[in-house]
Amino acid sequence: MRDVAVIGVGCTEFGEHWSTSFRNLFVEAGALALEDAGVTGEQIDALYVGNMSAGRFVEQEHIGALIADYAGLASNHAASTRVEAACASGGLAFRQAVTAVASGMEDIVVAAGVEKMTDVGTGASVDTLAGAADREWEGFAGATFPGLYAMIANNYMHRYSLTREQLAQVAVKNHDNGVHNPIAQFRQRITIDTVLNSSLVADPLRLFDCSPITDGAAAVVVVPLERAREFTDSPVRVLASAQASDTIALHDRRDISTLDATVAAGRRAFAQAKLKHSDIDLVEVHDCFTIAEICAIEDLGFCAKGEAGKLTEEGVTALGGALPVNTSGGLKACGHPVGATGIKQIYEIVQQIRGEAGGRQVDANIGMAHNVGGTGATVVVHILGGC
Ligand code: COA
Repeated sequence: MRDVAVIGVGCTEFGEHWSTSFRNLFVEAGALALEDAGVTGEQIDALYVGNMSAGRFVEQEHIGALIADYAGLASNHAASTRVEAACASGGLAFRQAVTAVASGMEDIVVAAGVEKMTDVGTGASVDTLAGAADREWEGFAGATFPGLYAMIANNYMHRYSLTREQLAQVAVKNHDNGVHNPIAQFRQRITIDTVLNSSLVADPLRLFDCSPITDGAAAVVVVPLERAREFTDSPVRVLASAQASDTIALHDRRDISTLDATVAAGRRAFAQAKLKHSDIDLVEVHDCFTIAEICAIEDLGFCAKGEAGKLTEEGVTALGGALPVNTSGGLKACGHPVGATGIKQIYEIVQQIRGEAGGRQVDANIGMAHNVGGTGATVVVHILGGC
């Protein structure tokens, strides 16, 4: 297997894009990534595009071909593949690109993610997202994603000493970070009271415990490490690429407050990279709901079960803390265009390692990205490091 490096990244602003079509969102992110990498479309061997549900959000299927066409890659007939694993589609697209380059099958590969969710109303969006859970056992019984994560939150709060305020602090911290991120959907600070006084969505989760519904796209370019310096002076090396699965329905889990697929993917990633937790300078975790960030920090092994609320309250996971979590603002403040989120996490880690993160910059040489599909039926974890 060959070592792989990221040589370029690009991302659209996340938010509501009334005047930009699905395909043009991708083209914008792709063009930024190619420009950053210093490669032309003709040099691209393959594309992997993460997308959860363009069929339901914008009534478009055959995304791989559409994207290759509008990115101007049809003339060189680059291989283009759609990758789907619900909200982990982006992370999985990155993993497919890394695998293709590592195997020697392809040399210059784009990994991207795109989703346009706001062309339908909230009800249709929420129902489409519910397709990432078990439709027969969960969706048909009325469970939405906020509802499923509310079950996790209730179970967790019953068993561990997490306070409502500690949970709210996750959102406060991520909004603080989002203020410094030009691509973030929400760039305003909030307080614990903002969260506690916002409307109840699924008890105990309130509006500000939830990631929003978002349009956006992100893209990165990967090549064999041995060729990376042909293109850039600051390649970022892929140190680990791990993936794990679990039961799709929450009620079949051993323990609904622990995402076992996160535990498994995290362990595999650390073993591949031959690193320990103290080597990681920052983590982008999948905070689709505030409780998800609490579980992710613990399930990745950064602290024992039941301790992440206290760490959050004490500022350990804030920008100036010992383990900055979601420096980008996370899904909460950046927004969560589901197919694009996993690539945006890689975009953030690369910017941090290159020292280009502006007001949210931390001391970063090694970063981890954690992307979850559904309530944890698919989990993808990557570790990247400076060269
Ligand atoms: N956090 C903070 N503010 C939010 C928000 C969020 N998550 N979602 C919407 N808002 C704001 C909007 O900006 C808007 O503000 P304004 O009135 O100042 O313009 C206001 O709240 C109403 O927005 P609207 O789009 O009508 O919200 P909604 O009620 O239709 O949707 C949720 C709110 C929580 C139901 C929706 O965001 C949601 O379902 N989120 C979860 C998405 C999800 O499940 N993703 C997959 C995870 S695995």
